[in-house]
Amino acid sequence: MGSRVLIVDDEPEALNYLIAGLEASHCEVEVARHGLAALQRVQQDPLPDLILLDMVMPGMGGLETLERLRQAHSGLKIVMVSNVNDTRKAVLAAQLGAADYLTKPLRTVDLTSLLRLAPLAAAAETPLALPGVERIGDRICVLAGPAMQAAYQQVLQVASLNVPVLLLGESGTGKEVLAHLVHHRSPQAARPFVKVNCAALPSELLESELFGYEAGAFTGAIKAKPGKFELARGGTIFLDEIGEMPASLQAKLLHVLQDGSFTRLGATRPSTTDARIISATNLDLHAAMADQRFRSDLFYRLSGFSIELPPLRERREEIPVLLRHFMTRFAETFVRPSLPFSAELLQACVEYDWPGNLREMENFVKRYLILADENLVLEEMQRKVAAGKVAAAPRTLPLGARPPARAAGPPAAAAREQRDLKSLVRGLKGEAEAEVIAEVLAQAHGVRKEAARLLNISYKALLYKLRMYGLDTPASAKAAGAGRG
Ligand SMILES: Nc1ncnc2c1ncn2[C@@H]1O[C@H](COP(=O)(O)OP(=O)(O)OP(=O)(O)O)[C@@H](O)[C@H]1O
Ligand SMILES: [Mg+2]
Repeated sequence: MGSRVLIVDDEPEALNYLIAGLEASHCEVEVARHGLAALQRVQQDPLPDLILLDMVMPGMGGLETLERLRQAHSGLKIVMVSNVNDTRKAVLAAQLGAADYLTKPLRTVDLTSLLRLAPLAAAAETPLALPGVERIGDRICVLAGPAMQAAYQQVLQVASLNVPVLLLGESGTGKEVLAHLVHHRSPQAARPFVKVNCAALPSELLESELFGYEAGAFTGAIKAKPGKFELARGGTIFLDEIGEMPASLQAKLLHVLQDGSFTRLGATRPSTTDARIISATNLDLHAAMADQRFRSDLFYRLSGFSIELPPLRERREEIPVLLRHFMTRFAETFVRPSLPFSAELLQACVEYDWPGNLREMENFVKRYLILADENLVLEEMQRKVAAGKVAAAPRTLPLGARPPARAAGPPAAAAREQRDLKSLVRGLKGEAEAEVIAEVLAQAHGVRKEAARLLNISYKALLYKLRMYGLDTPASAKAAGAGRG
């Protein structure tokens, strides 16, 4: 007897050609018209060698059926079948233990090769590609997908060389984790790792923090104090938020990069350091250089080697793995039983854009642990996904979209000249968005970072939109009531 195949589909008639092909290959084909029927079927022996499970079915959907079938028998070999190739769904299916994800129309050859690989015994617990994990003290870096694995490879390549490393990425993407990793993998791993947040201090304080001072350098400087560059000798100095470094200090930092020399405040002779410099920022340094806020010579020195961490929404395949990782971690911290993620909750999480990236995800998992109510967090998450879809709509605007009504002409005047409805609607949406941005910017007194926070979008996205709507010129900044551009 050949293999036993169970087809779970509300419209199996459409698969008649396939059933015929399988039977011709001596397979025994059974059909279940809904998820519950499939669940009942696997209560009986002999179990199917392969289950073809339709993604979209009325009642219990494909993913939920998949989850429940795998709960009943973790060894079942289940292949998801869908009309559309949806990467997010495919990722979820894989996380829930599906062996494959195929799109209709199915070809018999796809299945016979799957069947060849599927003697029942061997199918038990298809091992999911296990994510790599690197421990640095009590810090854990999960390499949950290709993007992180690629970043990790770059870390390994650069760690042993004493070149400056620049880490780029939105807030919460893991730049600090990566900085530790570079240090940990470097020959100076046993030496100090010293972090300085360049955005946290006003210019003079930051200078004394970085370079130290001599006794009597300023009022209150009773004793001499070494700076972070001295403390980091032989090790690594991590300059976080480098994009916010005041211009006066950028020149001094350039000196350190050029010949390792700097001068303590109030000192007459220069000191030296051999600390390896890692810097990080979530700002667009190219834009900062264009605005003369950041020195380009410094940029080229700092970015001897740069590593960019993509936002979580561009590596969604990592979401399920990271959710489980954070759940395990915080369940331990809070001494609570770790909570499961249902297919529905996972799906909402994979669809959500996570503007705050991994940090936002950490907070979400903590919230779930504390509330311990899956329905509640699911509802919250679904609401955020829906809100994101509305907010995302104007993103498809063409680059030359009109600036807001306030900056030019009466509302929609130009748009009305456009004949076609789609571009009219797009234009109107763009105007509405531009108007909201201008208002929020005014409310934030022109502080773009604050405006981005209020709008719940990344700083980079805000800069992009400002440029797109022509709001980044000094004139329009003034029009929006901004104090600072
Ligand atoms: N690969 C990872 N594996 C496990 N945890 C991670 C990973 N990346 C980031 N995290 C966790 O997510 C949080 C945010 O990471 P991190 O502080 O490194 O981000 P960041 O890019 O420096 O953000 P910001 O720009 O806001 O400072 C941290 O608590 C960190 O431990
Ligand atoms: Mg950071």
